[in-house]
Amino acid sequence: MREAALRKRARQFHESAVTVNRLPEIVESRADLPIMKEEYRILEALDESDVVVICGETGSGKTTQVPQFLYEAGYCTGEHEGQSQQIAVTEPRRIAAMSVSQRVAHELNLSDKEVSYQIRYESTATRMTKIKFMTDGVLQKEIESDFALRRYTAVVIDEAHERSMHTDVLIGLLSRNNVPESRRTPPLKLIIMSATLRVEDFVKNQRLFPTMTLPVIHVDARQYPVTVHFAKHTLVDSDPTAAVVKKVSQVHRRLPAGGILVFMTGQSEILDVCRRLREAFPSRSTPAKVASPKVEAETVEVKDVDTEVEFSGALPGDEDASEGEEEDMDEDESVGRERSHDGAKPGAFSVTEGAAEPLYVLPLYAALPAKMQAKVFAPPPPGHRLCVVATNVAETSLTIPNMRYVVDTGLVKDLLFDEYTGVQRFDVSWTSQASAAQRAGRAGRVGPGHCYRLYSSAVFQHDFQKFSEPEICKLPADGLVLQMKAMGIEKVVNFPFPTPPAQIALQRAEKLLRQLNALQDDGKITTLGKAMAQLPVAPRFAKMLTLARHYKCFDYIAAVVACLTVKVRMVELFLPAAHASTSVFHSRALGGGADAATLLAAVGACDFGACSQFSFCEKMLLRHKAIVEINKLREQLDRQGELLDTQAEQAEDTKTRSLPPLQPPTAAQLETVRQIILAAFPDHVARLDADASRADDPMKPYICTKVPEPVYIERQSSMRDSNPEFIVFMSLRQGTKRTYMQGCAMIDRAWLARLAPQSCDFGKPLPQPEPHYDAERDDVRCFQRGTFGPHRWPLPPTDVS
Ligand code: CDP
Ligand code: MG
Repeated sequence: MREAALRKRARQFHESAVTVNRLPEIVESRADLPIMKEEYRILEALDESDVVVICGETGSGKTTQVPQFLYEAGYCTGEHEGQSQQIAVTEPRRIAAMSVSQRVAHELNLSDKEVSYQIRYESTATRMTKIKFMTDGVLQKEIESDFALRRYTAVVIDEAHERSMHTDVLIGLLSRNNVPESRRTPPLKLIIMSATLRVEDFVKNQRLFPTMTLPVIHVDARQYPVTVHFAKHTLVDSDPTAAVVKKVSQVHRRLPAGGILVFMTGQSEILDVCRRLREAFPSRSTPAKVASPKVEAETVEVKDVDTEVEFSGALPGDEDASEGEEEDMDEDESVGRERSHDGAKPGAFSVTEGAAEPLYVLPLYAALPAKMQAKVFAPPPPGHRLCVVATNVAETSLTIPNMRYVVDTGLVKDLLFDEYTGVQRFDVSWTSQASAAQRAGRAGRVGPGHCYRLYSSAVFQHDFQKFSEPEICKLPADGLVLQMKAMGIEKVVNFPFPTPPAQIALQRAEKLLRQLNALQDDGKITTLGKAMAQLPVAPRFAKMLTLARHYKCFDYIAAVVACLTVKVRMVELFLPAAHASTSVFHSRALGGGADAATLLAAVGACDFGACSQFSFCEKMLLRHKAIVEINKLREQLDRQGELLDTQAEQAEDTKTRSLPPLQPPTAAQLETVRQIILAAFPDHVARLDADASRADDPMKPYICTKVPEPVYIERQSSMRDSNPEFIVFMSLRQGTKRTYMQGCAMIDRAWLARLAPQSCDFGKPLPQPEPHYDAERDDVRCFQRGTFGPHRWPLPPTDVS
């Protein structure tokens, strides 16, 4: 049967099916994967239909095997423009694209030139590439230049259930390939792969595939039962790190062999847990009791009581699935008993208290270097138990072998968008019930497992959403709309999104983009908008960078954008003490009239710091980690800035280099920086309300078009005493009594008419727009770089040399 399918496929793709020389151990390990039974059905389905959905439990082999099925069936034997035709596989996460491409190359016994990956700024792809793993954003960019994707015979959209914005857009775009008028010959095959979550959003979606019923191939799960233990009280409220260390220590001391997988939120918490666990269970067998008195003390204190719910691998939404008996039991018992496959309690097994083997602790998060990531797939050193402390990347994207215990904080770091202030920020929140079920399921791949949830079942029932919201509905729509317009999609409202974002969000986004002059009044994209769309940052920042390139102050704006982006990721540059003392980096020292100048002064001073960057930051009350991140981003933005000049392909620029130190700006350059901020935040202008000011109140009220109530300059701002008449701010923060403007810059009223004409309604007449205003280019005054004002960045009076 399989041969028949392969012959048929080979006929269609005018070369014979490809022979692969896999290593014997690979042949053996593949044979165990549930997806192997489905190879024939998948190829047959693709013969019948141009779109196929594959739905299967995580770890069933979708990501690693489906591209191999296609490769062997001859999907890469043709040529396009002198290059081998390729299979594209998209992943929402870079870490998955990189790691899986290496794995598949190894399984096929091919080089990384033939099975390659491409993520932003990094690519191993060559003319010989046959299978290319890439992030979904990279393929979306490729579609912009070739809508028919002629280089590819098949596109595999992996992890569709993650509902990343790019994946949703890709599915929408590629669904158009099935509309008769845009069909290509031979047709591009589309395979949508998903864990067993909400496939109906794609399958039964009339907007997406109005003319066809999609074949869905279900891959049988090989999932053992996992016993889920809820904490009686939620333990992660105050100190998730301590709660995790405590629970892992208990599991490791008391439960039999098997890996422990911990789900946490982000890099710094993960590294903290890893460090504490390594201290508690050093690599050579040391009795844990002696190893870390601190952890031991915490462990003894344990009084929280667990309840158990039998978990059969089913997901929330199956009404009678995750229901289970609830019973109070002592914490010690909950970690000290096993259950057999059928869920019967075999009674307590022998507890290996105090005689713990060494623990081999590994972190896993997106920013971890590839070599370190790969370690989690290798067996631990002999006599060690593997413990992987991961972000939700280990939820469905990467399957780590031999895990039997899951410790779940229930938390996820998520990008949130504040409607009120228009600000994006990362925040830690509860994950969804569906994600929690996926996390638990990771413990049941090699045998029956246990999942320890560090939150109560009441919290799980009441505070967890059933499913995570698709990213497209959470993120501000301005970036999305700009991307779509750049692809020539005029009516974004009519686009077949798997889950469409709210109409009002799309309308607001269009309004903002018109204000930024990225769109014309009729909704068509402008030249400025096209340039902005090339930069993978939010449109306001893209506008700042585009203008900065034009007006030769790119390095300054890139530094400001880097600071703001890092701040959005919750890494504050100034240590709290720096705020308390009158910050030396305040722009008064530069005469800048902008909080951005404060940021520039800090970043620039670090570039010139005579001692090591770390001790310099320490003395200057700056957070070293923030400076490291900011400098990384500055380098990235510098590369992106070059794209604006050269129109080069993003992915081809993979070199890294370090930037020259940032020279202090002249007063004129700082003025350009302020004008550029205004041009990017034309709807964030506030005017001093002199009539409403009270002499006894040092804080002066401002009026702005964004909110009806008065707003105030934030206390930390460098402009809190000067109270200029007009201010542009970057965001609003709701205090307990008042609303504060953050990231302020003083502006000249004469600029308003040119740079923010739409926001000029303050109830008092303002200057008329100048006749030569060039809306398309946002004509701000141009200052050439070259003459520098102060020759040193202003430094605090402390002795730093
Ligand atoms: O995509 P899906 O979740 O269905 O499964 P997969 O990622 O293809 O994983 C199939 C198997 O390959 C699992 O047992 C993984 O542990 C293994 N694998 C590996 O050993 N090394 C990798 N870099 C990736 C996967
Ligand atoms: Mg997968």
